[in-house]
Amino acid sequence: MTGIAILGGSGLDQLEGIDIERTETLDTPYGAPSDALTIGHLAGVRIVFLPRHGAAHTIPPHRINYRANLWALRQLGCDRVISVCAVGSIHGDIHPADIIIPHQIIDYTRSREHTLYDQDLDEVVHIDFTEPYCASLRTALIKAAESLGVDVHPAATYGATQGPRLETAAEINRMERDGCDIVGMTGMPEASIARELGLCYATIAVSANDAAGRHSGPLEMEGILNNVAKGMDVVRSILVKLLKSADS
Ligand code: HPA
Repeated sequence: MTGIAILGGSGLDQLEGIDIERTETLDTPYGAPSDALTIGHLAGVRIVFLPRHGAAHTIPPHRINYRANLWALRQLGCDRVISVCAVGSIHGDIHPADIIIPHQIIDYTRSREHTLYDQDLDEVVHIDFTEPYCASLRTALIKAAESLGVDVHPAATYGATQGPRLETAAEINRMERDGCDIVGMTGMPEASIARELGLCYATIAVSANDAAGRHSGPLEMEGILNNVAKGMDVVRSILVKLLKSADS
C-alpha cells in the first residue's frame, strides 16, 4: 500500500475538508507522535494527517518528536510526506503570505533527537542528503500551484533554527550570507529522518513575516498569524489540486 501524508504546521493544525475515516493513536519505538493520526479522504484521495505541533498547537519546535511522527506515518503505509510549515522571509523577493517550495536546507538546530541510526547498530549508516527534498513531490507541488495560477517560489534554501525564540537581526544577516532565503524552526531534523526512513518528503511553506531586522519594529504575533491564515488557504487549494492529479 502506498499513501500520502500531510504533516501540518502552524496555521494548519487541523485539515478542513478531510472526510475522516478514523483516527489512530499510535506508539512507536521512539515514543508517541505529536497527536492521533487522522486517516481520511481529501479530494477523494486517501491521506493521513498529523499536526506536528499537536492539534491544540502546544508542542514547540524543539520538543516535537520528529522520529515518532515520521515512523508513525510510515507505519500507516505512507510513502510520500508533504510537510506544511510557516517560515520567515530572508530573501527580498519573498514576501509575507507568499508560497515557497524549498530545494535546499541549512541546519542550525542543536540537541534534537535527529537520527534513527543512533545506537545498538549493526553498522554505522550515513544517508545521502545532497538533495534533501524528494524531486517528484516538489515538482508535483510546483505544478499544482502553477496550474492554479499561484505565483509560487519554486526554489529556496531553508535555514532551520532551534527556536522557540525568533532570531536576532544579526543571526538573520549571517543566515543570508550563508545563502538562506527563508527561516523556520521545524524543517530539521524532519527532512533527514524522512530520508532515513526512505520516505519521499517535500515541503510547502508559507511566509508568515519578514525575518528579524527585515521590517520596522518588533515581530508581532497578530500580523504573523494573519499572513499564515491567508497563505494556508492557498496551501489547502494546492494540496487538493495535487491530490486530484495524484495516482495513489
Ligand atoms: N523565524 C523562524 N521561524 C519562523 C519565522 C521566523 O521569522 N516565522 C515563522 N516561522
